[in-house]
Amino acid sequence: MNRMSEQTIALVTGANKGIGYEIAAGLGALGWSVGVGARDEERRESAVEKLRAAGVDAFGVPLDVTDDASVTAAAGLIEERAGRLDVLVNNAGITGGEAQMPTTVDPVTVLTAVETNVIGVIRVTNAMLPLLRRSASPRIVNMSSGVGSLTRQSTPGAETGPIAVAYAPSKTFLNAVTVQYAKELRDTNILINAACPGYCATDLNGFRGVRTPEQGAVVAIRLATLPDDGPTGGFFDDAGVVPW
Ligand SMILES: NC(=O)c1ccc[n+]([C@@H]2O[C@H](COP(=O)([O-])OP(=O)(O)OC[C@H]3O[C@@H](n4cnc5c(N)ncnc54)[C@H](OP(=O)(O)O)[C@@H]3O)[C@@H](O)[C@H]2O)c1
Repeated sequence: MNRMSEQTIALVTGANKGIGYEIAAGLGALGWSVGVGARDEERRESAVEKLRAAGVDAFGVPLDVTDDASVTAAAGLIEERAGRLDVLVNNAGITGGEAQMPTTVDPVTVLTAVETNVIGVIRVTNAMLPLLRRSASPRIVNMSSGVGSLTRQSTPGAETGPIAVAYAPSKTFLNAVTVQYAKELRDTNILINAACPGYCATDLNGFRGVRTPEQGAVVAIRLATLPDDGPTGGFFDDAGVVPW
């Protein structure tokens, strides 16, 4: 138990694999205590073990972002363990499935993607906000994607991924949600931003991405460690600002 210790406390959702795992590893390398949010017990515990073996002060947080009770329990666990939360990385995400042509999609596919990628972020953020408000420098990072950029989608020749009426708009929605939070929280010390990790080889895309998950984690780690005068309500990748 390190209740109200000086050590920075972070929670990364969907941290059992992929980019989330690497964000947890990167934040852990800073000496932070990192909650590994994951819905599957076996995958969670094996990630925690692997992180600990690498010297990270990691702890498991059972967490399904689509489940109110699970999210409430996760906030209770962090409250009990640390008494506050400094950094929340909303990384958990899904594509929603392969069949995403707008004219033939099953509406349930869209709902499923939005439920995890957008509503899940709102659910987790609001559950964690009382703990974040106790931090001296709270940061929230929402893992978005450049495929949610309407500017890029309406720019001929820009790389925006395959047509995907569930996944891509869910990230556009998440970007809009991020801006709304930043507006409400503008007079607080909470900085909230959206991140694009680039196209990384993970389960999400059948490992077709061209970047490593470690590379994808870099932008989230940067936004998680922003100085107090850092930006809020923005959308960033490794190269800087991503157009909405
Ligand atoms: N890979 C890319 O090229 C890319 C590009 C742009 C943005 N992103 C975004 O980056 C984030 C991480 O993706 P990734 O590429 O690392 O994919 P990934 O390897 O498939 O990892 C996704 C993580 O989210 C978790 N997750 C999914 N639904 C969840 C739920 N309901 N509750 C809790 N955890 C849940 C997964 O847990 P399980 O193991 O239990 O399924 C897994 O840990 C996502 O938000 C994704 O949209 C990825």
